[in-house]
Amino acid sequence: MLECFAVESGQRTVPIIPVLRDAFDTWLASQPAARRQWLSSSGFKITGEAPCLLPRPDGELDAVVLGVDCERDPWALGALPVSLPPGVYRVQAAGSAEHLTNAALGWGLGSYRFRRYKKLDEELPKLVLGNDIDSTSVQNQIGAVYLVRDLINTPAADMMPEHLAESAANLAGSFGAQLHQIVGDELLNEGYRAIHAVGRASTHAPRLIDLNWGRPGDPKLTLVGKGVCFDSGGLDIKSASGMRLMKKDMGGAAHVLGLARLIMASKLPVRLRVLIPAVENAVAGNAFRPGDVLTSRKGLTVEIDNTDAEGRLILCDALAEAASENSALIVDFATLTGAARIALGTELPGFFTASENLAAALAKAAARVRDPIWRLPLFAPYRALLDSDIADMVNSSSEPYAGAITAALFLQAFVPDSCEWVHFDIMAWNNRARPGRPKGGEAMGLRAVYAYLSERFAPAA
Ligand code: BES
Ligand code: ZN
Ligand code: ZN
Repeated sequence: MLECFAVESGQRTVPIIPVLRDAFDTWLASQPAARRQWLSSSGFKITGEAPCLLPRPDGELDAVVLGVDCERDPWALGALPVSLPPGVYRVQAAGSAEHLTNAALGWGLGSYRFRRYKKLDEELPKLVLGNDIDSTSVQNQIGAVYLVRDLINTPAADMMPEHLAESAANLAGSFGAQLHQIVGDELLNEGYRAIHAVGRASTHAPRLIDLNWGRPGDPKLTLVGKGVCFDSGGLDIKSASGMRLMKKDMGGAAHVLGLARLIMASKLPVRLRVLIPAVENAVAGNAFRPGDVLTSRKGLTVEIDNTDAEGRLILCDALAEAASENSALIVDFATLTGAARIALGTELPGFFTASENLAAALAKAAARVRDPIWRLPLFAPYRALLDSDIADMVNSSSEPYAGAITAALFLQAFVPDSCEWVHFDIMAWNNRARPGRPKGGEAMGLRAVYAYLSERFAPAA
């Protein structure tokens, strides 16, 4: 059981009462006079975000009242774990098990702390998980998001390619998956020249991490994650402010590991493959250069316009490998472009796919689990922006426009049309804290994708 939860054991619990803002007056009228008076004299506003702590006559905490817009919103109770005093709470809701499940999810996600370097001895409030909800499923989802956040929050010095591989190995060990790695110069022998070129200037050897799990007869699902453990920009070096957050450039890798954990813990009937090209984009005498031409795994040659457009280079080799098998679906996650953030901001991940059906189903699943994503176009006429005079393509357009689209079009060149594929361009980081979503590393679009996958692949109940 996660630390933020408690089991039902007859202990005294403080009820949390979520009240629909629209129905507050009716609810208020049904309350005892002293409670009504306290809500008024303490200045409680149902429209506000802050809860009201109701006292008992002896001064103990009696209940917590909170205004919510919708009981299905997992974020409705997400701020409580950081604002309530220590104690054991339970949600008092007339609603369905689904509402209670969402409340538990928001509570769990809001209880996250990154503790590796700063020991926190404050005691956190706990929520009782009632018997009417599927506590394993809730905790699997929370565990996946915690893993993503921990991996992203860990500084680059402690989260280099070998550490990512170690995390993948631990995950494989926990769920009986196979882990294979191609490390350093072996990448050249195996045809992963682009991964090698991007990662060779680092003292931490580049690698391709390959995790496999599942039963032979099940459909193949391949996840690919950008694992740039630190993105200095390479010789096209970033500015100090542009580099400051680049420990998070392995956010795509973190997402696919978190998603893999959720898939394996839930025993989704798929043959799962996770491919993570893991590198540090560093500066050294042997770094790859602007103007160099790389031969990718697929055979397409790529002229380097900008060494800071490195994510698409490592991904193109991994995607070519993913597409060499008959996968039912390939999903990639990558902190690929600043341009996607210019277009959509930091809190809305963009996704690209040629499949209308997949796009519609993903959007629907995302709305259902309140994990927003937004489709962007694979606008084919912009492929011309990737033309090179001396190679099959350049890695980055010389135009400053449509940067997220041209990056996605670059990736598309490595996945055959016959293959169902979706690419997520994510921030993987909360610049500000919101209920259930503390500042720092964040899973974005992960629950949406999982909701879609479990609908598509889980056997009908
Ligand atoms: N890792 C960055 C993209 C990024 C930056 C994502 C900030 C989220 C926040 C990526 O490798 C990169 O540097 N992209 C360049 C591409 C450009 C050189 C074509 C970018 O977006 O500026
Ligand atoms: Zn870069
Ligand atoms: Zn990058």
